[in-house]
Amino acid sequence: MKELSLNILDIAENSIAANASLVSICVTQDSHENLLSIVIADDGKGMDADFLKMVTDPFSTTRKTRKVGMGISLLKLIAEQSNGNLEIISEVGKGTTVKATFQYDHIDRPPLGSVEQTISVLVSCNLNVDFIYEHIFNDKRFKFDTREIKKILKETPMNNPDVILWVQEYIKEGIANITS
Ligand SMILES: Nc1ncnc2c1ncn2[C@@H]1O[C@H](COP(=O)(O)OP(=O)(O)OP(=O)(O)O)[C@@H](O)[C@H]1O
Ligand SMILES: [Mg+2]
Repeated sequence: MKELSLNILDIAENSIAANASLVSICVTQDSHENLLSIVIADDGKGMDADFLKMVTDPFSTTRKTRKVGMGISLLKLIAEQSNGNLEIISEVGKGTTVKATFQYDHIDRPPLGSVEQTISVLVSCNLNVDFIYEHIFNDKRFKFDTREIKKILKETPMNNPDVILWVQEYIKEGIANITS
């Protein structure tokens, strides 16, 4: 994966698989601290402590019976290669928060990529899930919340082609407005 926006898609898909009804994604760029952070929080089914330990390290568990995926361990690897780290907080029945940090100007940090594509795919393919996307650049903030959009749209679904295009433009411009 060459863009962090694809890792975000992967981690958010875990939230959807865990039956989350609200997924919030927050990207923070802090130029003073030379830091980029990505936080994905859900209210899905959560993981217990033993399971959580295994999830971040698939290679130590290859001899166990359970098949372990790559989404989380891949993001962990990318974060660590960029002088950052990955942390997961999870509670059964409450939800999960995944936080990845990166040294902003690290040579190995992948570009963020097209976050608006990631969000529009998530939103249009999961009509019963709500999403918040927040982008913070130092003291500036952009926020997108499907609960607010759905109120305005009334019966027009979030997978309407015009709505999808609007969502992409809105997020793209929102990010550009605070980062340029
Ligand atoms: N947000 C979450 N809530 C509950 N369980 C989760 C969450 N994220 C991950 N998990 C659990 O951790 C496992 C590993 O996640 P990971 O993304 O690394 O792999 P995967 O989703 O199984 O496979 P892949 O991402 O490679 O398709 C998941 O199968 C799931 O059981
Ligand atoms: Mg996954």
